[in-house]
Amino acid sequence: MSVNKEIKKVTTNTLQKMKAAGENISMITAYDFSFARIFDHAGIDIILVGDSASNVMAGHETTLPITLDQMIYHAQSVVRGIDRCLVVVDMPFGYYQSNSDVALASAIKIMKETGGHSVKLEGGEEVLDSVKKIVSAGIPVMGHLGLTPQSIYKFGTYNVRAKEEEEAAKLKRDALLLQEAGAFAIVLEKIPATLAKEVSQSLHIPTIGIGGGGDCDGQVLVMHDMLGINTEFKPRFLRQYLNLHEQITGAVKQYIADVKSGDFPNESEQY
Ligand code: KIV
Repeated sequence: MSVNKEIKKVTTNTLQKMKAAGENISMITAYDFSFARIFDHAGIDIILVGDSASNVMAGHETTLPITLDQMIYHAQSVVRGIDRCLVVVDMPFGYYQSNSDVALASAIKIMKETGGHSVKLEGGEEVLDSVKKIVSAGIPVMGHLGLTPQSIYKFGTYNVRAKEEEEAAKLKRDALLLQEAGAFAIVLEKIPATLAKEVSQSLHIPTIGIGGGGDCDGQVLVMHDMLGINTEFKPRFLRQYLNLHEQITGAVKQYIADVKSGDFPNESEQY
């Protein structure tokens, strides 16, 4: 029996055991009650309340504009929908970068007001003091290395990161530092698969890949991308499991036609 099936609630310890047992970890983003409920009942291990909410829920071009209170609203909705999976809440841009006291205050606010189980923040050495402080307060922290979307204006593009030796060496060092600082897992976004494999093998905590190849200890996708609600975003790493954009458009067109023609509501659909 898999580690996942033996347990009632997924915790950071469960993830540790899954890595040790070679059982891949499944993670997906969610931002509201209804989808969180579906994903939790389907058996997902982790729901990430990602700051990608800034893009897919609010329509911003980047993750930078979303606020702490907006993230808290999404996380509260998600937590109401789940019974079993681990909930990770993204710390939004501007609420942890200035110093570790600010970071701790933001993490505490997230934990107090949402009922989420952990937080995620982007970066390595630069955020180490914050990671240590948050972990010391008893809050589990997930790291995020590689393509870190909050730094998009520094990178200039959403291209694959750490292809060159210098950046790859920093990423390997950062991963070890995050582990030493007490992070319970690390997202590896859009880096070469060989590098992700090397990092995953060098750590005792799990790595969760998004565009990091099959040797990460788990995988994460943004729900709007994997369900085909977004149609414009088609990076190589994305597997699209549904085409909800097409299906929803068809359903809504049919509804409009039925209303216009008077077919809806019929006799059995009224009082
Ligand atoms: O915000 C998000 O959805 C993320 C994933 C891309 C890992 O951080």
